[in-house]
Amino acid sequence: MRLTDFRCYAALDLELDPTPVALYGANGAGKTNLLEALSFLVPGRGLRSAGAEGVARKDASGPAEAWAVFAEMETRDGEVRLGVGARNGGRRETRIDGEPAPQGELARLVPMIWLTPAQDRLFAGPRADRLKFFDRLVYAADPAHAEAATAYDKVRTRRQRLLDEGQADPAWLNALESEMAGHGVAMAAARLDALIRLQGEIDARPEGAFPQADLALDGAVEADLADGLDAGAAEDRFAAALRDGRRRDGAAGRTLTRGPHRTELVARHRDKDQAAGDCSTGEQKALILTLALAQARALARQGGVAPLLLFDEACAHLDAPRREGLAREILATGSQAWLTGVERILFEPFAERVQYFEVDAARVERSA
Ligand SMILES: Nc1ncnc2c1ncn2[C@@H]1O[C@H](COP(=O)(O)OP(=O)(O)OP(=O)(O)O)[C@@H](O)[C@H]1O
Ligand SMILES: [Mg+2]
Repeated sequence: MRLTDFRCYAALDLELDPTPVALYGANGAGKTNLLEALSFLVPGRGLRSAGAEGVARKDASGPAEAWAVFAEMETRDGEVRLGVGARNGGRRETRIDGEPAPQGELARLVPMIWLTPAQDRLFAGPRADRLKFFDRLVYAADPAHAEAATAYDKVRTRRQRLLDEGQADPAWLNALESEMAGHGVAMAAARLDALIRLQGEIDARPEGAFPQADLALDGAVEADLADGLDAGAAEDRFAAALRDGRRRDGAAGRTLTRGPHRTELVARHRDKDQAAGDCSTGEQKALILTLALAQARALARQGGVAPLLLFDEACAHLDAPRREGLAREILATGSQAWLTGVERILFEPFAERVQYFEVDAARVERSA
């Protein structure tokens, strides 16, 4: 892995083997920045949602002209050289084996799942964040889901703008709504499919270190599909709901019509028979890990390639038995997990099966 002018790193060159990576060091040392750099190797705005325009290294003379993240990876297509970067605050560019490539191709090559401390209150926080987290799990298994979701949001924004202006041509709205319905049903179907696999993977591991969870998706289109409506009929129904909702959506200035943008991920702690949002901080963290690890196992099974796991501060809030469980479960997935923590001792349960790096003021040194 090589970084150029990314966040606090002017230049970094890391040689790694495929085992998990433990990064330890003081606050502000540069641990999360490393995970964030990796997160740019898949489509999206990275694990801090900063976007390509927000990550160039800054010093007293201002931001660097260009930043880049480069990695050589073992993927399902064999060894691949991936490069991502941006120049002059512009759009990000992607290269695969030195050739310009669309971002979507990266998602297919590098399944990735990340967790950040910002997600610690995911189950008690806003609905949209939960859905985003779940959608990311779906993307890792099904990159086409990301494309459908992006397309859906684009058309939804266009329709809403027309309704806001209040003088849209109904034929034009019909066309947009039928496009929305097409992407929306594809999204809902991908989510349901992922949910079934995920729940199956969770149920298959009752003895795991993390609590069992019961998951459901509460969404209008998801419900239609789960009730057995075929995709065509579900599209017609959703398009009709959008047509009926025009006046209301226009008056509200947002898309109140129930569609995949308003779906709720419902999670329950099975043993406690409690909504995830009512669980303690540590219990919620454990439930999030349940989901992420189950998805990692599902992906390894599905594509034969374990995803990269970027677990920022995953050990914070976990007691010693859960930290041991985390090490066990990560090692069982065969993933190259990247873990951060302020102290090396947090990673003791990995024993010799992790590569340690000490991070100190943007210097990263391998340690025995
Ligand atoms: N664009 C940038 N240019 C230069 N430095 C930056 C930039 N963005 C962030 N930094 C700095 O990078 C440093 C490391 O941040 P990072 O979040 O990686 O630390 P960390 O090791 O994860 O710390 P913590 O344990 O507190 O989470 C911070 O001091 C931050 O101010
Ligand atoms: Mg950090």
